[in-house]
Amino acid sequence: MTSNEARASDSGTLRIGILGTGSMAAALGGAWVRAGHQVLVGGRNLAAAATTAARIGAAGHGGFTEAAAYGEAVLMAVPADSAPALAQELAPALAGRTVLDCTVPMAPGPDGPRLTTGGGTDSVAARIAAAAPEAGVAKVFGICHESIWTLPRPVFEGAPLAVPFCAGTPSAAAFTEELITSMGCSPLPCGGLSRAPLLEAAAVLAIGVWWSGGEARHVLPSPALAPGAVDDEP
Ligand SMILES: NC(=O)c1ccc[n+]([C@@H]2O[C@H](COP(=O)([O-])OP(=O)(O)OC[C@H]3O[C@@H](n4cnc5c(N)ncnc54)[C@H](OP(=O)(O)O)[C@@H]3O)[C@@H](O)[C@H]2O)c1
Repeated sequence: MTSNEARASDSGTLRIGILGTGSMAAALGGAWVRAGHQVLVGGRNLAAAATTAARIGAAGHGGFTEAAAYGEAVLMAVPADSAPALAQELAPALAGRTVLDCTVPMAPGPDGPRLTTGGGTDSVAARIAAAAPEAGVAKVFGICHESIWTLPRPVFEGAPLAVPFCAGTPSAAAFTEELITSMGCSPLPCGGLSRAPLLEAAAVLAIGVWWSGGEARHVLPSPALAPGAVDDEP
């Protein structure tokens, strides 16, 4: 955590700025408004920002800099290949805040969608963290289709939706946990930003499964469902 990094609010009401005015901005922003948070939608097109803000009942709208300066947390809801440059441009305003990175670095490939990062230790989240070093960054909300966030209460097979995240600082992790819980979901900490490439790759894989007609949620049943199963790997 940097010295001036904002902490999660004690009041339960969080201030969130959104960079972007499209599907994810509206879906997640709407979920946060329903959860009682204050949201400001920011875009490069002010008319689009105003339309999205009005549609979800946000507290306001503005440009990217206003949205970055508004939030204790700031959602990056622009294309993955634009996100690091935008973070660099907004770095002074993002200092001390948590950047929630939901981007999926994906492009069409011969066998299905492919990662546009190098994979390994490279991720959009790490690039954002390098571009805005005074911000805390969390990779989160990129696994599910935007429609999931429009549900009043995302509960499936009797269990609240688990939301995996990787956070670069303790403050970003605490803020992300608080935000996910406030949405009626279950936070699933998955480590630091060094593991963000796994979340980005998981999103690309899941999208490829859906596009090929498969059902990603059928892919990972718990070993506990197989009687006698033993997993003795460390
Ligand atoms: N849609 C999903 O279900 C989903 C799920 C998980 C993750 N994601 C990720 O969430 C992010 C946003 O997706 P989305 O579906 O909300 O996209 P979208 O509906 O196309 O909205 C994209 C937003 O980014 C802005 N934008 C586009 N190019 C830009 C640039 N070069 N610089 C700054 N702003 C730019 C657009 O502004 P203009 O209107 O001015 O072009 C728009 O406000 C993406 O990284 C995507 O991978 C999406």
